[in-house]
Amino acid sequence: MQNRLTTFGEVSLEALAAHFGTPLYVYDLARLRRDFSRFQNAFANLEFVAYSLKANPNRWLLKTLADLGAGADAVSGGEVLQALSAGIPAQRIVFAGPAKTPQELDLAARQQIFAIHVENEAEAQYLADHWPGTRVGLRVNPAIDPGTHPKIATGLPESRFGLPLEAVPRLVKTYGSALQIRGLHVHIGSQIRNPRAYLDALDRILPLLKLLPDPEYLDLGGGFGVDYEQDDDPWVEEILQALRPRVEPLGVRILLEPGRSVVARSGILLARVLYLKTMGTRTYALLDAGMTDLVRPALYGVRHRVQVVAAEDRPLRTYTLAGPVCENTDVFAEDLRLPELQPGDLVVFRDTGAYGFSMACNYNLRARPAEVAVDQGRAARIRPREPVGGFLMGEPAELEFVPLNP
Ligand code: LLP
Repeated sequence: MQNRLTTFGEVSLEALAAHFGTPLYVYDLARLRRDFSRFQNAFANLEFVAYSLKANPNRWLLKTLADLGAGADAVSGGEVLQALSAGIPAQRIVFAGPAKTPQELDLAARQQIFAIHVENEAEAQYLADHWPGTRVGLRVNPAIDPGTHPKIATGLPESRFGLPLEAVPRLVKTYGSALQIRGLHVHIGSQIRNPRAYLDALDRILPLLKLLPDPEYLDLGGGFGVDYEQDDDPWVEEILQALRPRVEPLGVRILLEPGRSVVARSGILLARVLYLKTMGTRTYALLDAGMTDLVRPALYGVRHRVQVVAAEDRPLRTYTLAGPVCENTDVFAEDLRLPELQPGDLVVFRDTGAYGFSMACNYNLRARPAEVAVDQGRAARIRPREPVGGFLMGEPAELEFVPLNP
């Protein structure tokens, strides 16, 4: 990959920054459609692809995917509502999560979504009591190590996600008539490159499928890895290919829940260099974007590839790219060789469409960035920049103490 970039989605990055300001998330809808379409014909018995909203829940990205027939994997009441508001039909929404509130269960049951993915017995009991006849699936923890970053492995024996394998027979027996238990769900982690992990998970849960009175589907989760150092993710197709002969003869429908692999590559974060500063042997390029806008480097130590938006040739220099947040972790990359930078220059962080904006926060009372979609040379704002100081408006002007002790 070159260390320079001037356009994205056929739109000038200088023009995007000048018009919409920085820091700015930019998504290329053509790339989004292309990456989603890899999953659309994955299996002859594919029911639908439930795009995992947590990767990026922007309504206009969801609408783009909904137009292609996407469903949604939601993990909160907010995500269920967001999917519905983007036009994803309730019948294509699944709802998982290890600690759903009664209000969230009520919402999902009332909307008659495709299935609520039950992760503990008390949840099944609540649904049986309040929403008998609801369609559910059982999220099972297959107790395997997917060989990924420990912070994003969710199917380890001690993970808090899903039901232990041995709990499934009892649950089916107890709730099999009160609830419509139609399927099983596994999601073993994120950033997976090895088909073996999916095949192992499948081996673990297949015997349980036979226990369901009327099995309809198997949801194999998401987790398809993205290579943040290179352009291609050949294992996506390899994993689907390895699964095909195993899942197609099963006689049930298949769901997938990719998040990252659908939206990561279509997004960039555009930031401006505010200052250059040399401290000892280190030269910092201090940016207007920080860990509040893109937390993945601070949280997981991930390095997103950097490109400089500068047309002319410049000599290479070594920079540490850091943000404005008062934390030592607010560093995007150390000792990177880049074309010489000047204050005002733009830099691009690649592959930040997934878990970028969706994990942004207001720490240091920083306003979250704007989001823009580009499509074949045109650009549209899909989320406004938050107003500076807007956070203060939610706090009451007067204190109203409430007498709570009897
Ligand atoms: N299904 C369930 C139940 C999940 O918990 C997840 C992600 C997915 C699907 C989608 O997984 P994907 O295809 O995106 O790998 N913040 C982390 C990633 C956390 C993933 C959490 N669950 C990161 O920035 O790397």
